[in-house]
Amino acid sequence: MFKKIFGAVVALGILALAIFLLIAWESSINPISPPGPDAFSKEQIKRGEVLAGLGNCETCHTTDPAKPLAGGRAMPTPFGTLYSTNITPDPDKGIGQWSEEAFSRAMREGVSRSGSHLFPAFPYTHFTKLSDDDISDLYAYVMSRQAIAAEPPENTLEFPYNIRLLLAGWKLLFFDEGRFEPDADKGDVWNRGAYIAEGAGHCSACHTPRNALGAEDSGKAWEGAIINNWYAPALNANNRTPAGWTEKEAYEYLRHGGSPFHGVAVGSMSDVVHDGLKYAPDSDLRALAVWLSDLAQAPGEQQAHDSSATAIRTAQQLQNPSTMMGEGERLFAHACAACHYNEPNNPNTLRPDMALNSAISAPTPVNLIRVTLNGVSLKEGIPEAMMPGFGQALSDRQIASLLAYLRSTHTDLPAWTDLEQQVRNQRP
Ligand code: HEC
Ligand code: HEC
Ligand code: HEC
Repeated sequence: MFKKIFGAVVALGILALAIFLLIAWESSINPISPPGPDAFSKEQIKRGEVLAGLGNCETCHTTDPAKPLAGGRAMPTPFGTLYSTNITPDPDKGIGQWSEEAFSRAMREGVSRSGSHLFPAFPYTHFTKLSDDDISDLYAYVMSRQAIAAEPPENTLEFPYNIRLLLAGWKLLFFDEGRFEPDADKGDVWNRGAYIAEGAGHCSACHTPRNALGAEDSGKAWEGAIINNWYAPALNANNRTPAGWTEKEAYEYLRHGGSPFHGVAVGSMSDVVHDGLKYAPDSDLRALAVWLSDLAQAPGEQQAHDSSATAIRTAQQLQNPSTMMGEGERLFAHACAACHYNEPNNPNTLRPDMALNSAISAPTPVNLIRVTLNGVSLKEGIPEAMMPGFGQALSDRQIASLLAYLRSTHTDLPAWTDLEQQVRNQRP
């Protein structure tokens, strides 16, 4: 009896394994000679450049700016470090031998030309939504770049996470292959925005939290998440900034890197705006803004304006007469207020108002700490504007009391905990 059950279990196990291998197995696609840049029209390459910008291909696939797309960028994961690959048309080290079919399969199914499964750090879970034309244009762009014979470092993923075949199981659980489906209840412009956001732009890759296996948690879509040690705020109605993301503000922010009713794009979002979205036509950014303001359930322009004026005024009224100032308030008055003071009805992008800024209303202080320690470079935020860092001038305790002061007077949200320790953790 026992033997029979045991036999049945083993047989079932073998059957399950066989089915899994059948699903997991992907064939190799024949190599081709690199098509060369003349195989594509200038217009097609130009369209591909816009898509490559929206998809941030260069941000992830470049380490040395002199070697664009040659790969090697380290992507730390909880399971070890993964390196982006060389996607220049070099026939040996890059993807020069990839046909458009092989490229399309990688972008939409996460399978390399050789047939091995690719890690979802490469956002094919989003690129799968791209249309046939857009995949062709991207292929034209990538294949017409300069070939560079560079080899990225070996991945250092721990066993069993280094077994690519197991990714087939991950895909079964978390990956929906398939093109973008427009929402018939929304207009064309909204749908264009959604297509860019969900597809090439892969916005939720950073703005949605991930589960223990590294997949976006669909139950918490757009709730905000930590990525590359920055906090990417919620983009849905849980976004806590007083003004909300109206169409006008969202467009300003995505086009220019800052909005008077919020603040500026720093860290990873600065890369998205300044390295990626800069190639996109205005019509695409307006479409993204229409989609975003709907997702955020933004108020009308007038109400956004009024709410932000009220927020600035309230924070100003909470400031004490000078003799009563505590340490945090004194530091703010001396170190920050000269540049961060606004007339309530007319905030200025170049003086981001602390009462409106998502760094102050975020559930984690990481962005505020990093900006205070390191400042904002000329390249980030509004280009040509910068903010000095205060890491040398202020101690951990001083920064902690300054930020606690900002949180308590400029928002009605609960205080952050362990601030001093968190500041220390962000020091180089
Ligand atoms: C968030 C970072 C990130 C972005 C953005 C990104 N990639 Fe990648 N990509 C990766 C990583 C990491 C790998 C390696 C995955 C692996 O080894 O399994 C990869 C692999 C690939 C591959 C497979 C190459 C091979 O040798 O197997 C292709 C093709 C590719 N990316 C193209 C693109 C294109 C085109 C874009 C822009 C539209 C893009 N990637 C954007 C991180 C990224
Ligand atoms: C590589 C990660 C990453 C990607 C991809 C990304 N974002 Fe962000 N985003 C961030 C981070 C980090 C911040 C916080 C930056 C700051 O506070 O200055 C942010 C901030 C924002 C903000 C400001 C929110 C606020 O309340 O201040 C908006 C709006 C935004 N992103 C929209 C988008 C859209 C639209 C896309 C897709 C086209 C996108 N993001 C893609 C990381 C990302
Ligand atoms: C010399 C002027 C100056 C001083 C002093 C200054 N800032 Fe700034 N700050 C700026 C400018 C300008 C920007 C926008 C930079 C850009 O867009 O490139 C900025 C941006 C910011 C942001 C916005 C980040 C975002 O994601 O939107 C925060 C938060 C901030 N500063 C906090 C502080 C704090 C805290 C202090 C005091 C310790 C301070 N600043 C002192 C000029 C200053």
